[in-house]
Amino acid sequence: MYSDKVMDHFENPRNVGEIENASGIGTVGNAKCGDIMRIYLDIDDDGIIRDCKFKTFGCGAAVATSSMATELVKGKSIEEAMKVTNKAVMEALDGLPPVKVHCSLLAEEAIHAALWDYAQKKGIHIEGLVQPKSDIHEEESGEEY
Ligand code: FES
Repeated sequence: MYSDKVMDHFENPRNVGEIENASGIGTVGNAKCGDIMRIYLDIDDDGIIRDCKFKTFGCGAAVATSSMATELVKGKSIEEAMKVTNKAVMEALDGLPPVKVHCSLLAEEAIHAALWDYAQKKGIHIEGLVQPKSDIHEEESGEEY
């Protein structure tokens, strides 16, 4: 059912933990499955993501996608991190079963939420970034905050 890469990232997740004084922190959840993901970003003055950590209270696919997402954004510029979509995360993991696609959406949204937090703190605008939803199934934006 799961690829070797998914199993590897589930069993040996990379970048688990927190970053003290993080440049940006994003927390998102999915009310339907109850899973929650938090991403911490450490961004330097040149806009490069020097470090990225995560905490995920969720299913195995959510752990694997957040682990892979942190690997994909680490060392990247903000612009490059914006290209780390759920599709990119899924491809890097050699795919996910259809019922688990929403888990990868949580990872994309958590990165965006952390970037949003960073942009708010810095007072900057990040091209293509819109205010993330705290619940990825919640269509009425903002209401769940
Ligand atoms: Fe909801 Fe995986 S089942 S994030």
